[in-house]
Amino acid sequence: MEIEGAIALVTGGAQGLGLAIAAHLAALGARVVVADHNAETLSRLPEGLEPARLDVTQPAEVKAAVAEILARHERLDILVNNAGSIYSEAFVNLMNPAGIMHDYERFRRSLTVNLDSVFIVTSAVVEQMVRRRTGGAIVNISSISAGGNEGQTAYAAAKAGVNAMTVTWAKELGRWGIRCNAVAPGFIATVSTQGALTASVLKHIQDSTPLRRLGEASEVAQAVSCVIANDFINGAVLNVNGGLTI
Ligand SMILES: NC(=O)c1ccc[n+]([C@@H]2O[C@H](COP(=O)([O-])OP(=O)(O)OC[C@H]3O[C@@H](n4cnc5c(N)ncnc54)[C@H](O)[C@@H]3O)[C@@H](O)[C@H]2O)c1
Repeated sequence: MEIEGAIALVTGGAQGLGLAIAAHLAALGARVVVADHNAETLSRLPEGLEPARLDVTQPAEVKAAVAEILARHERLDILVNNAGSIYSEAFVNLMNPAGIMHDYERFRRSLTVNLDSVFIVTSAVVEQMVRRRTGGAIVNISSISAGGNEGQTAYAAAKAGVNAMTVTWAKELGRWGIRCNAVAPGFIATVSTQGALTASVLKHIQDSTPLRRLGEASEVAQAVSCVIANDFINGAVLNVNGGLTI
């Protein structure tokens, strides 16, 4: 797909990887709408990115935002499902006085923001792509944790679900000219990574990575534009992790 001139929607694009992806697509000539629930970070978007305030877990809000984008731009060619939230909780924690097992409500909450959201937004966008016969490209931001990660039952399950939906949609939607791929970042030097992991864990990760460093947000953004641009990549889950999993 020609990225120049395409209309793109990037969820969770007001900061972190989403912002890097949105800025990269805009630099390649796309018109980019950034959807996020954080009004404060949305208000500080770099020039050229269009803000859309919405919660990706709320189907009605998402449908209304997609309708608004179509009214303004007449089509929507690219969807990047990036909104999500890293969540860590041990399945068993003997030290927790409130209960030793992973809390079910928190499990559900992580699934809602990391998995249901991808279903909700993709459903609203694909409906329009199919009805209008425009085709399109969908990229889901997965994670290295999709393979199972100690201390991340909910997040790992959600991202594994994202990978499964990616392949399912690649199979189902190809007949309408819609491709669906995932990009699975490893450990990227973002504020959320620094916040989620201790310095010693980060050092261990770097030492275990063949390239001996964390990834850059720009490297994830480049992988996203790569799977959008190549018209024969469909159903791929592209690892961007410096070789950590090989
Ligand atoms: N940072 C990493 O190293 C890393 C690694 C692997 C995967 N990921 C994935 O990449 C994506 C982005 O991660 P990040 O590190 O940039 O996170 P981040 O927390 O910095 O940014 C996430 C963005 O999503 C938005 N968001 C969260 N919930 C939302 C909701 N319900 N509705 C609308 N917007 C919402 C937030 O406001 C924020 O702007 C996530 O899906 C994450 O799981 C990140």
